Amino acid sequence: MLERAFGKVNLALDIVGRRGDGYHELKMLLQGIDFCDEVEILPARELQVTTDRPDVPDGPGNLAFKAVLLMSERSGRKPNVQVRITKRIFAAAGLAGGSADAAAVLRGLNRLWSLFWPAEKLEKLAAELGSDVPFCIRGGTVLATGRGEILEPLPDLDEHWLVLAKPRIEVSTAWAYRNYSAATVTERPKLAPLLAAVQANDRQALYAGMGNVLESVTCRTYKEIAAIKEEMVRAGAARSLMSGSGPTVFGLVDSQEKGEAVLAAVTNKFDVETVLTKTLRRNES
Ligand code: C5P
Repeated sequence: MLERAFGKVNLALDIVGRRGDGYHELKMLLQGIDFCDEVEILPARELQVTTDRPDVPDGPGNLAFKAVLLMSERSGRKPNVQVRITKRIFAAAGLAGGSADAAAVLRGLNRLWSLFWPAEKLEKLAAELGSDVPFCIRGGTVLATGRGEILEPLPDLDEHWLVLAKPRIEVSTAWAYRNYSAATVTERPKLAPLLAAVQANDRQALYAGMGNVLESVTCRTYKEIAAIKEEMVRAGAARSLMSGSGPTVFGLVDSQEKGEAVLAAVTNKFDVETVLTKTLRRNES
C-alpha cells in the first residue's frame, strides 16, 4: 500500500489571539503543493516505522508511529504494520512534512484495514496528532482556523509555480510561537481581500493579500530568511513569503522558466535545499 504525502505552504498565517490551552488562535490560508514524501504501509509481525533520512526519527519519535497507534486503538485492529517513509519534503521546514506523513498513515490504514471511515472522521483523528495534520488528509486550498484544525475548503486556485528554499537552520515551531509579539509585526495578511482573490482566481490580489506574522519572529533571529525573500523577488518572483514557522521561503512565479531562474539565483547565493514545484488541486492529492 503506497500513499503519497503532500506538503503545504501558508499563503497566509495570522495570529488572532491566545487560547486557554496554550495554543494560538490562527487564521491561515493553506495550499497543498506537488512536493511529496512516499509512505509505504505493509502488514508485519510488529509495528515498525523507518525513514531514509538520518535527521528524521524512526520509531516512536515519528508522528507516523503515533498515527498507527491511534488508528489501531480506535479501530480495534492490531498495529502490526511496517511503515517505510521516503522523505523528499524538507524536514522541520514549515512545509508540514511530518504532518503529511501522519495523514498518509491515517488514509493508508483506512484502506488497508477496509475501515471505510469518511475523510471527516480521519480529520478529527488527525487533529489529535497535531494542528497541521487535518489539512493534510485532503489538501487543496483551505481556510484553517482555531489552532489550525478547523477547515473550510475553498475553490481550487489556478496552477501556480513556486520555488521553495530552505536554509540549513533549525527553527522550532514552539519557539516561534513563544517569541511572537503582536507589537513587532510589520506585515499582516489581509484575509478578506485574500479570500476574495481566491474566489476570483486573481493573482495580483492574491500576492497583495499574502502575509505571515511569524516572519516577525524568525526574520529577526535568522537574517538569511529575509535575504532569501528579497533575492527571490530580485530574480523574478512575483511574491515571496516564509511558510509556517519557517525556515522555508517560497516564491510564486508566473512561469516554469522564471521558477528555474529564481531557483538558480537562490542556490548561487545561499546554502539552501531547493525545489521548483506547483500548487495542487484538492482532488489531485
Ligand atoms: O499542534 P502542533 O504539535 O503541531 O504544534 C506545535 C507547537 O506549536 C505547539 O506545541 C505550540 O507551542 C505551537 N502552536 C501554537 N498555536 C497553534 C499551533 C501550534 O502555539 N495554533
